[in-house]
Amino acid sequence: MAELSVVVVSQDNEHRAILQVLVDGTSVARVVHTCASYPVVANDPVVRRIQSASPEVVLVDVPVDNPANAVRSIEILHQELRDPAPAIFAIGSMSQPQVIVSAMRSGAKEYIERPTTATDLLEAFVRLTATQRKTGREGPRGKVYTIINAKGGSGATTTAVNLALALHAAHGGTALVDMASLGHASLHMNLKPVFSVADAVRNIHRLDSSLLDSFMTRHNGGLQVLAGPNAPLPIEPSTAEFARLFDLLVNHFRYVVVDASSRMDATSRLVCSLSEAVLLVAHADVASLWSAARIQQYLAETGGRERVHLVLNRFRKIPGFSEADAEAASGLKLMWKIPNHYFAVSAAIDRGVPVMQQGNTEIARSFSGLAAKLTENDVEVKRRTWSLFKTVS
Ligand SMILES: Nc1ncnc2c1ncn2[C@@H]1O[C@H](COP(=O)(O)OP(=O)(O)OP(=O)(O)O)[C@@H](O)[C@H]1O
Ligand SMILES: [Mg+2]
Repeated sequence: MAELSVVVVSQDNEHRAILQVLVDGTSVARVVHTCASYPVVANDPVVRRIQSASPEVVLVDVPVDNPANAVRSIEILHQELRDPAPAIFAIGSMSQPQVIVSAMRSGAKEYIERPTTATDLLEAFVRLTATQRKTGREGPRGKVYTIINAKGGSGATTTAVNLALALHAAHGGTALVDMASLGHASLHMNLKPVFSVADAVRNIHRLDSSLLDSFMTRHNGGLQVLAGPNAPLPIEPSTAEFARLFDLLVNHFRYVVVDASSRMDATSRLVCSLSEAVLLVAHADVASLWSAARIQQYLAETGGRERVHLVLNRFRKIPGFSEADAEAASGLKLMWKIPNHYFAVSAAIDRGVPVMQQGNTEIARSFSGLAAKLTENDVEVKRRTWSLFKTVS
């Protein structure tokens, strides 16, 4: 492995010095520059100094007492540093899940726990070079779509399973993660998983892409499934552990679909805040829409209200009840309507063959349409559509 050049950014003299020693101690990386202040604006001289050092990795120390400036600097460095665009690793406390989420949203590729060891850094450097070798470049991070129900039995698992299959059929590189307290997704797909999310989280400190792979179950079309537990867990993993798991998932998959079903706790809220879109699956009845409004409020407490959308399942026209009524009652924008096909859906679940695998039916087209709607603004999807058009014309 060629030696990586690293820049260390920390306002704390001691942290800066320790990080330098640790990086050099990995013997696969070398500190080429250190900064004692965080860049605060795009044209900050600190950005220019870091750029001229051409690092492959920038380590940003995120202090516990005032993380905001460090997180902002990650965003600036992520936007400004080009040719080469380095990987940014945040170093911070695992006791602040919201800081982990913000650092990752701002563009940090890894969030490494402090106090850090040379082994932690070495593993992160190895992961970086392994990803670069695999993709030939620093790939974009995947997108997470979380599916949660307004009330038990509204259709979250059905939506998550079929949406994941539709995304995988259209674009490949998709994972389905079952976060429900009892995992039903593998039953819907007739899978017999050996491992579950709990195993991945239990091994989080040594989890890399190949270990993650070994915990996943492959569906016959290629979709990778990280199954849910088959019994309630005695100890729930911490939100920070989930943050780390999702950090890995978005580095390896283009799309990650999460079945949260009825799970409504700090972990599902964390995963929702890491998501590109949260689909709240409800029926068009008063109790379901009332619950949707409550859940929407709970999720919005940590920001990102605009990312939560309403999906009406088992939809059929009801005289005197309009879509605008559903939006008003839930406080959410309606993104999609899934038709009511009880016989087809329940038979598909009983047989373990999802409707997406059963040919071109109205309900399968609805899930494909939802996948297309979610990805319509993705640059790569657009580019591919354009080049297909060019080939045809
Ligand atoms: N579009 C649909 N048309 C008709 N029936 C449906 C549809 N979607 C789901 N169902 C029915 O609703 C039931 C519950 O669906 P599903 O298990 O996906 O819901 P859930 O929100 O994940 O429930 P849970 O709270 O148990 O996690 C299914 O067994 C199926 O029979
Ligand atoms: Mg479910």
